[in-house]
Amino acid sequence: MTLAERIGQLNLVPNGPAFDRSAVEHGAIGGIMGFASPREIAGLQAVARRAPGGVPLLVGLDVLHGLRTMAPLPLGEAASFDPDLARETARMAAREAAALGMNWTFAPMVDIARDPRWGRMVEGAGEDPLLGSLFAESRVRGFREGGLAVTLKHFAGYGAASGGRDYDLAEIAPGTLHDLYLPPFRAGIEAGAESVMSAFHALNGVPATASSLLLTDVLRRRWGYDGFVVSDWQAIPQLIDHGVAAGEAEAARKALLAGVDLDMASDLYARHLASEVAAGRIPEAAVTEAARRVLRAKLRMGLFDRPPPDALPESAPAPTADTRAIVRRAARDSMVLLRNEGVLPLAGPRRIVLVGEMATSGRALAGPHGALERWEDTVTILAGLQARAARDGATVAAVAGCALVCDSDAGFAAAETAARDADLVVAVLGEPVELTGEGGSRASLALPDRQSALLDRLLATGKPVILVLVASRPIELGPALDRLAGLLMAWFPGTEGGNALADILFGDESPSAKLPVTWPRTVGQVPLTYDTPSSGRPFETGNRFTLRYADQSLEPLFPFGFGLTYSRFDLTPGMVGASRIARDGALEVRATLTNAGPRAAREVVQLYIRQRRARVVRPLRQLKAFEKVALGPGESREVVLRVPFAALGYTREDGTYAVEPGPVEAFLGTSSAAARPVGTVELVTGR
Ligand code: BGC
Repeated sequence: MTLAERIGQLNLVPNGPAFDRSAVEHGAIGGIMGFASPREIAGLQAVARRAPGGVPLLVGLDVLHGLRTMAPLPLGEAASFDPDLARETARMAAREAAALGMNWTFAPMVDIARDPRWGRMVEGAGEDPLLGSLFAESRVRGFREGGLAVTLKHFAGYGAASGGRDYDLAEIAPGTLHDLYLPPFRAGIEAGAESVMSAFHALNGVPATASSLLLTDVLRRRWGYDGFVVSDWQAIPQLIDHGVAAGEAEAARKALLAGVDLDMASDLYARHLASEVAAGRIPEAAVTEAARRVLRAKLRMGLFDRPPPDALPESAPAPTADTRAIVRRAARDSMVLLRNEGVLPLAGPRRIVLVGEMATSGRALAGPHGALERWEDTVTILAGLQARAARDGATVAAVAGCALVCDSDAGFAAAETAARDADLVVAVLGEPVELTGEGGSRASLALPDRQSALLDRLLATGKPVILVLVASRPIELGPALDRLAGLLMAWFPGTEGGNALADILFGDESPSAKLPVTWPRTVGQVPLTYDTPSSGRPFETGNRFTLRYADQSLEPLFPFGFGLTYSRFDLTPGMVGASRIARDGALEVRATLTNAGPRAAREVVQLYIRQRRARVVRPLRQLKAFEKVALGPGESREVVLRVPFAALGYTREDGTYAVEPGPVEAFLGTSSAAARPVGTVELVTGR
């Protein structure tokens, strides 16, 4: 290939008025994105195959949690604590996209997110590296099985943005980077990820898109990764705004030399790489290597062997019974029951009133980060509940109270009257899509606008109120919480959201999800995660000179790993296997889980550890294994959780990973806070 053709492979061009088809004819484009018409995609592929070099195009889109049939947003799916479920929805989404000619998704997002102010928390799997890694692996497998290459994004530490402000810098110590933020990327790479996206932000002072530490030292040298790196949207020219490049040519040079292979949407590689090579500022071999990585991925994806499609749909086909069944299950398995004062599951004929425009909106349930979904495909909460209630002889009516953006009290009185006339109120409140996702960082975690006032009016009627939150993150509820009859976190549940909610509320399915993030009481506590490091002055009641807030508890409102079911589970007794374990051994904990309640349900048994002594401060709890177990009423099962010796170490200040000898305490339970000590093992490292 000529130098120009190799540079062409590094150019990823978005759909839009400026898109120049003739550039494909000249082999000046390696990938396209944002195209939805199967005919147009097939047409462009045909042009690319006739162009010099005859190299097929990467055809990318942000397919995060569905193409047309929408599963819950990824954070919701993570709450299922069931990575296989995410694999299935990813596979489904990929199949829908691949059928249109797409071959690459900008997903999964595997950024660990520990600050709920950050709007993009909803795109990932939450705060924990083990949960994040398992979901990363599953999603990578699922997308690939469905026919899309994947992109692990955003490399790296993008979720640690200061103050939760999207695009702000992140300061992360090396050990934390390796043990907390990088494991999901590593897991995704081991599962076969074709590409990695460099992040927008600056990590420890260096923009991720110009970071040879991240893109070359860690990714290529340390991990031996041979896939390709794509920049985020116009992240290369943003190096000028970051103040690390004086102009476009320098920005292109810095990005390429740091290890960014594909330029998304800025055209800077196309405009400047050839002259930079001619001037001797970029070795030609660096361009060749970048092109080789892209071509290698295309070969592995089988793009060269794919015959042109013979029949093409006009557009994304509507959800089918099969895809609906998948996302319905995903949605109900992701809803977290946080409070239940005996009202759930709903029983007997009742007059139920739904309050909140989200109850009748398909758009609200789809959430941010959609692809080609159509809101009219969505089963709204009103439709889902009405269909189910009829079977019980119950009635369901809806009154808005206020609009999705709840900026007026004008409808409050009508909502109040409807509540008074009902037996039960289901308030469906939360975050309108404008307030979440990318660019959706918030300084407050309260219900937006006038929604709290509306909730207070409903509570004042004295009728039982169940709050269903349609939101991307923990919401601050204040004193209203104690007055709620029930609280269910529904996240953004997607196309079958209404039916899934009916499954849960009417008890056709017991809730089984657990929080993948710590739920703070107030925004002032954040960042607040379950894996707090041990302090030299741990909190002591009555002692002000210990770790605490003077005006607020240290405790979260709901801990990581917490979620109620409709049954009652006993977990007894946890027992640690061997008391000493060496290199080839494993920490093993056995326990018997019994469903002592009246209904079939699922519970998540969680194993946490604490390393009692180490050279550096270690967390008080770290999730190391879990299992989701389904049991009928009265049934018992022995659960065995194993953690290999090698997973019990950490990265030291010098960047090396090691397991240190000494005692490790194990805790078992059904949430991070409820986990109880079950024994201590001694790690033996000797040579
Ligand atoms: C986001 C990426 C996304 C890209 C392309 C960017 O703004 O940060 O996650 O893949 O846009 O849509």
